[in-house]
Amino acid sequence: MRKAVLFGGAAAITVLAGAALAQVVAPPAEVMTAGQDGYTRNCQVCHGANGEGGIGFRLDGNPIMQSSAGVVEMILEGNLNHGMPPFGTLSDEVIAAIATYVRNSWANSYGLVEPPLVAQIRANIAAGGGGGE
Ligand code: HEC
Repeated sequence: MRKAVLFGGAAAITVLAGAALAQVVAPPAEVMTAGQDGYTRNCQVCHGANGEGGIGFRLDGNPIMQSSAGVVEMILEGNLNHGMPPFGTLSDEVIAAIATYVRNSWANSYGLVEPPLVAQIRANIAAGGGGGE
Protein backbone atom coordinates (compact mmCIF):
# COMPACT_ATOMS: atom_id res chain seq x y z
CA MET A 1 0.00 0.00 0.00
CA ARG A 2 2.73 2.36 1.00
CA LYS A 3 4.55 1.72 -2.28
CA ALA A 4 1.42 2.48 -4.28
CA VAL A 5 1.12 5.85 -2.54
CA LEU A 6 4.74 6.68 -3.34
CA PHE A 7 4.27 5.77 -6.99
CA GLY A 8 1.15 7.92 -7.08
CA GLY A 9 3.20 10.84 -5.80
CA ALA A 10 5.89 10.33 -8.42
CA ALA A 11 3.26 10.27 -11.17
CA ALA A 12 1.79 13.55 -9.91
CA ILE A 13 5.24 15.16 -9.92
CA THR A 14 5.82 13.94 -13.49
CA VAL A 15 2.55 15.49 -14.59
CA LEU A 16 3.46 18.78 -12.90
CA ALA A 17 6.91 18.81 -14.55
CA GLY A 18 5.24 18.19 -17.90
CA ALA A 19 2.93 21.13 -17.34
CA ALA A 20 5.88 23.37 -16.44
CA LEU A 21 7.72 22.40 -19.64
CA ALA A 22 4.67 23.09 -21.75
CA GLN A 23 4.65 26.65 -20.40
CA VAL A 24 8.04 27.63 -21.85
CA VAL A 25 7.48 30.89 -23.72
CA ALA A 26 8.95 31.02 -27.22
CA PRO A 27 11.72 33.66 -27.32
CA PRO A 28 11.17 36.82 -29.41
CA ALA A 29 11.89 36.28 -33.11
CA GLU A 30 14.52 39.05 -33.22
CA VAL A 31 16.54 37.36 -30.45
CA MET A 32 16.39 34.05 -32.32
CA THR A 33 17.50 35.75 -35.55
CA ALA A 34 20.44 37.47 -33.82
CA GLY A 35 21.30 34.18 -32.10
CA GLN A 36 21.23 32.26 -35.36
CA ASP A 37 23.53 34.84 -36.92
CA GLY A 38 25.98 34.53 -33.99
CA TYR A 39 25.75 30.74 -34.09
CA THR A 40 26.45 30.62 -37.83
CA ARG A 41 29.49 32.86 -37.45
CA ASN A 42 30.99 31.34 -34.31
CA CYS A 43 29.71 27.85 -33.59
CA GLN A 44 28.42 26.11 -36.69
CA VAL A 45 31.88 25.12 -37.94
CA CYS A 46 32.25 22.72 -34.99
CA HIS A 47 28.67 22.01 -33.87
CA GLY A 48 26.94 21.75 -37.26
CA ALA A 49 24.24 23.83 -38.95
CA ASN A 50 21.57 21.77 -37.21
CA GLY A 51 23.35 21.28 -33.88
CA GLU A 52 24.17 17.76 -34.99
CA GLY A 53 27.76 18.02 -33.78
CA GLY A 54 31.06 17.36 -35.51
CA ILE A 55 34.31 18.52 -33.92
CA GLY A 56 32.13 19.74 -31.03
CA PHE A 57 29.43 17.81 -29.22
CA ARG A 58 25.89 17.46 -30.53
CA LEU A 59 23.77 20.35 -29.18
CA ASP A 60 20.42 19.11 -30.53
CA GLY A 61 18.75 17.30 -27.64
CA ASN A 62 21.84 17.71 -25.41
CA PRO A 63 20.75 17.75 -21.72
CA ILE A 64 23.24 20.58 -20.96
CA MET A 65 20.73 22.86 -22.72
CA GLN A 66 18.44 22.63 -19.68
CA SER A 67 20.88 24.85 -17.77
CA SER A 68 21.00 28.41 -19.06
CA ALA A 69 23.97 29.09 -16.75
CA GLY A 70 25.78 25.99 -18.01
CA VAL A 71 25.43 27.02 -21.64
CA VAL A 72 26.46 30.63 -20.95
CA GLU A 73 29.48 29.53 -18.93
CA MET A 74 30.58 27.19 -21.72
CA ILE A 75 30.37 30.02 -24.26
CA LEU A 76 32.25 32.46 -22.00
CA GLU A 77 34.98 30.09 -20.80
CA GLY A 78 35.12 27.32 -23.37
CA ASN A 79 37.10 24.20 -22.59
CA LEU A 80 40.23 24.77 -24.57
CA ASN A 81 41.94 21.54 -23.49
CA HIS A 82 39.08 19.69 -25.16
CA GLY A 83 38.87 21.91 -28.24
CA MET A 84 36.12 24.35 -27.27
CA PRO A 85 37.41 27.94 -27.57
CA PRO A 86 36.19 30.70 -25.21
CA PHE A 87 33.96 33.45 -26.66
CA GLY A 88 34.26 36.01 -23.86
CA THR A 89 35.07 38.74 -26.38
CA LEU A 90 31.46 38.67 -27.63
CA SER A 91 29.04 41.07 -25.92
CA ASP A 92 26.53 40.00 -23.26
CA GLU A 93 23.74 40.60 -25.80
CA VAL A 94 25.30 38.41 -28.49
CA ILE A 95 26.12 35.60 -26.04
CA ALA A 96 22.58 35.74 -24.60
CA ALA A 97 21.15 35.56 -28.13
CA ILE A 98 23.38 32.60 -29.11
CA ALA A 99 22.50 30.81 -25.84
CA THR A 100 18.81 31.49 -26.54
CA TYR A 101 19.16 30.18 -30.08
CA VAL A 102 20.83 26.88 -29.13
CA ARG A 103 18.41 26.32 -26.23
CA ASN A 104 15.37 26.85 -28.48
CA SER A 105 16.35 25.21 -31.76
CA TRP A 106 15.99 21.65 -33.07
CA ALA A 107 14.62 19.44 -30.26
CA ASN A 108 15.52 22.06 -27.60
CA SER A 109 12.86 24.28 -26.01
CA TYR A 110 13.99 25.98 -22.81
CA GLY A 111 13.15 29.66 -23.18
CA LEU A 112 14.91 33.01 -23.27
CA VAL A 113 18.40 33.79 -21.90
CA GLU A 114 18.79 37.48 -21.04
CA PRO A 115 21.98 39.59 -21.08
CA PRO A 116 22.04 40.26 -17.29
CA LEU A 117 22.59 36.52 -16.68
CA VAL A 118 25.63 36.66 -18.97
CA ALA A 119 26.93 39.75 -17.14
CA GLN A 120 26.48 38.00 -13.80
CA ILE A 121 28.31 34.83 -14.88
CA ARG A 122 31.05 36.92 -16.47
CA ALA A 123 31.51 38.73 -13.14
CA ASN A 124 31.55 35.43 -11.22
CA ILE A 125 34.25 34.06 -13.51
CA ALA A 126 36.30 37.28 -13.21
CA ALA A 127 36.03 36.96 -9.42
CA GLY A 128 37.55 33.51 -9.70
CA GLY A 129 34.33 31.59 -9.22
CA GLY A 130 32.50 29.27 -11.56
CA GLY A 131 29.56 30.13 -13.72
CA GLY A 132 27.01 28.75 -11.30
CA GLU A 133 26.37 25.37 -12.87
C1 HEC B 1 36.69 24.97 -32.67
C2 HEC B 1 35.50 24.17 -32.47
C3 HEC B 1 34.38 24.73 -31.63
C4 HEC B 1 33.73 25.94 -31.77
C5 HEC B 1 34.00 27.03 -32.77
C6 HEC B 1 32.67 25.94 -30.76
N1 HEC B 1 32.71 24.79 -30.03
FE1 HEC B 1 31.44 24.25 -28.54
N2 HEC B 1 32.52 22.59 -28.18
C7 HEC B 1 33.59 22.17 -28.94
C8 HEC B 1 34.14 20.95 -28.35
C9 HEC B 1 35.33 20.17 -28.86
C10 HEC B 1 33.34 20.68 -27.22
C11 HEC B 1 33.52 19.55 -26.21
C12 HEC B 1 34.38 20.10 -25.08
C13 HEC B 1 34.50 19.10 -23.95
O1 HEC B 1 34.92 17.97 -24.18
O2 HEC B 1 34.18 19.49 -22.82
C14 HEC B 1 32.33 21.72 -27.15
C15 HEC B 1 31.36 21.79 -26.18
C16 HEC B 1 30.33 22.69 -26.17
C17 HEC B 1 29.23 22.69 -25.24
C18 HEC B 1 29.05 21.72 -24.08
C19 HEC B 1 28.40 20.47 -24.60
C20 HEC B 1 28.37 19.37 -23.56
O3 HEC B 1 27.63 18.38 -23.77
O4 HEC B 1 29.07 19.48 -22.54
C21 HEC B 1 28.41 23.72 -25.57
C22 HEC B 1 27.11 24.12 -24.89
C23 HEC B 1 29.01 24.38 -26.71
N3 HEC B 1 30.16 23.74 -27.04
C24 HEC B 1 28.48 25.48 -27.33
C25 HEC B 1 29.14 26.22 -28.30
C26 HEC B 1 28.66 27.48 -28.82
C27 HEC B 1 27.35 28.13 -28.43
C28 HEC B 1 29.61 27.92 -29.69
C29 HEC B 1 29.65 29.23 -30.42
C30 HEC B 1 29.63 30.43 -29.60
C31 HEC B 1 30.66 26.91 -29.76
N4 HEC B 1 30.34 25.90 -28.89
C32 HEC B 1 31.77 26.97 -30.58
C33 HEC B 1 34.11 22.77 -30.06
C34 HEC B 1 33.73 24.02 -30.52
